[in-house]
Amino acid sequence: MSTLDITDVSFPPYVDQRPGTAGLRKKVSVFSQPHYVEMFTQAVFSTLKLPAGSRLVIGGDGRYFNSEAIQRLMAVAVANGVSEIIVGQHGLLSTPAASHLIRLRHAAAGFILTASHNPGGPSGDFGLKFNTPTGGQAPEHVTDEVFRISQQQTGYRRADLPHVDLSRTGITRLAGLVVEVVDPVADYAVLMESLFDFQRIADWLRAGHRIRFDAMHAVTGPYARRILVERLGAPLDSLRHAEPLPDFGGLHPDPNPIDAAGLVAESRGAGAPDLLAASDGDGDRNMILGPDTFLSPCDSVAVMLANVTRIPGYREGVPGVARSMPTSRALDVVAASLGLPCYETPTGWRFFCNLLEAGRIGLCGEESFGTSSAHCREKDGLWAVLFWLNLLAVDGRSLPGILRDHWARFGRHHYQRWDYVVPDAGRANELMEALRRLLPALQGTNPAGGIIDTADDFHYRDPVDASESAHQGVRLIFSNGARIVYRLSGTGTAGATLRVYLERHVTLPGEIVLSTPAALTPLGELAAQIARIAHHTGLSAPTGMI
Ligand code: G1P
Ligand code: ZN
Repeated sequence: MSTLDITDVSFPPYVDQRPGTAGLRKKVSVFSQPHYVEMFTQAVFSTLKLPAGSRLVIGGDGRYFNSEAIQRLMAVAVANGVSEIIVGQHGLLSTPAASHLIRLRHAAAGFILTASHNPGGPSGDFGLKFNTPTGGQAPEHVTDEVFRISQQQTGYRRADLPHVDLSRTGITRLAGLVVEVVDPVADYAVLMESLFDFQRIADWLRAGHRIRFDAMHAVTGPYARRILVERLGAPLDSLRHAEPLPDFGGLHPDPNPIDAAGLVAESRGAGAPDLLAASDGDGDRNMILGPDTFLSPCDSVAVMLANVTRIPGYREGVPGVARSMPTSRALDVVAASLGLPCYETPTGWRFFCNLLEAGRIGLCGEESFGTSSAHCREKDGLWAVLFWLNLLAVDGRSLPGILRDHWARFGRHHYQRWDYVVPDAGRANELMEALRRLLPALQGTNPAGGIIDTADDFHYRDPVDASESAHQGVRLIFSNGARIVYRLSGTGTAGATLRVYLERHVTLPGEIVLSTPAALTPLGELAAQIARIAHHTGLSAPTGMI
């Protein structure tokens, strides 16, 4: 069989290709520089050292530059041992669907082209993350090695690959290379049907219950259409913004109450649907609402655990659960009641992957609208929506009813995240350094009505591979059930974002019904005062609150 010609291209290294919380994320203007995609891809392959004949999965969220990046990436992949590529039609694959496909097809690696919930379009963001054969994101020691190599390499290898048509499903053979363009939804839909009781959900919808799903002009549109509408029978007008667009129609594809304000408005007042949900650019996040109810992602995963055996795919229960450190401790309370281990990991989905792979956990979540189970190795937006639909269908209570009863039983964890966007990253770093220096003095003090039992900088030791991750966020844990966490975002593409996470566990009925802002504003002000946020950043109030 003839093979494709391989060319060695000389080019000086880019020195800014350091992957962050979830892959390499940069402005489109940075990614579209000459050879930028190729150089990063080469650094990945030089790290992975795949044997000849390897299989690769590729797909993205459809944002601007997706198609071009895929073609460029494929040329480098083929020159570095890949001889079989599975790619989503039109270059689309949601992050959880890609994770599933990598596992299902025993691929040696996967590339997911996304900047998640960051804006798209020519002036927006682009991103590249790569996953291991487990379907999970590459661990830190691997991404560190990619960065090291990227700073030293003097070029890359590319195959002389003609433009590959991604518009039609099917198999193309090209001189020793097999490219399979797959329906991005099919395998994922089969997986969902194996976990959830589709019949019960369809019956529940047929009985007159209504849902509303906002795909935010991002990748979940085709998934929602196939599963919610065609398979479960929801009317077509249950979907909002269901067409994937390269610039997300100018929207910010971030499922949170600010960026999905239209959906929040639809959840208010008489006639609101029984469940409303939105997902992000690449389909791994979820925001879920009920009539006049915002479901905190921290509560969502806790309620899921409390009800997990009522869902067919989880009848046997789960071996344990995990949450990222800044996520509220609502999950811990339920886990304790069931006698299950609850692991606390640093921010970023990849930290759950070892625990999932080792069979230690079966459910996990992050406050940042991320929830999933062992069915893949990424968080999964539509999976969370289907879990809640299944729960509503078997339970009979409304979403707000389930939540109220949950709080009455376990207490409520009021929870908020205050974000401070700091244009000058240096000042944000100074703030964190000053705060770390302050920690020994804070321990045991009693500011504004609560003793600080623990004041530390979260350090994680992975229980599976014993790897260490230091400086994962400053924690102030109060004896009265309150907690403040400070950390800097690792996904931004400019400046810095200081995230301040606030939490209070309350059990008295009068405190449970308090509005979350009323319950947490004093704690947020205390957090600002302790870290001297105004002094360091010039910001006297958060730039955003979620
Ligand atoms: C944010 C979220 C984090 C999530 C990540 C990727 O990271 O906080 O939970 O895993 O996006 O979706 P951050 O910007 O805080 O580093
Ligand atoms: Zn995402």
